[in-house]
Amino acid sequence: MTYQVLFVCLGNICRSPSAENIMNHLVQQRGLSDRIQCDSAGTSSYHIGSSPDRRMAAAARQRGIELLGQARQLTADDLDAFDLILAMDRENYRDICALDVSQRHHAKVKLMCEFCQHHTDRDVPDPYYGGAEGFNYVIDLLLDACEGLLDHILTLDPATSDSAS
Ligand code: 4NP
Repeated sequence: MTYQVLFVCLGNICRSPSAENIMNHLVQQRGLSDRIQCDSAGTSSYHIGSSPDRRMAAAARQRGIELLGQARQLTADDLDAFDLILAMDRENYRDICALDVSQRHHAKVKLMCEFCQHHTDRDVPDPYYGGAEGFNYVIDLLLDACEGLLDHILTLDPATSDSAS
């Protein structure tokens, strides 16, 4: 069984594709690609079909990570399909929960910053209207959160850890 993780922000062109690709990078480094699968989506329809934001991609590339993928909008079906859904900020969290009309999936929706081991932010800040330093900060914050998230997933499901292979 593959553990399915979905990262969600507003536009799906800055924060959530960064989280998806950083997490994929860490998962590949640990040889877990056949056990953990990542995807991302936006709560809005603003940028459907777009590639990741160039400024975000440049910041990620400085850390050795390529941002792949095209923006798509979150659907109610995603709440059924994924095991864990990570909201980049509290507004995303509320919008995701608003799609969960049955209220069956609240427990699988978490704030990304809950998994940070070094940063104390509650939200991954929206970098869209700011400068380059905001994009660099998002990458640093997400590297921290993704490390913590991967450790968390491995404690949840021993079958996904290296030692089980
Ligand atoms: P994201 O950033 O939610 O991290 O992808 C944004 C992208 C686009 C907009 C806002 C935030 N926008 O207003 O178009």
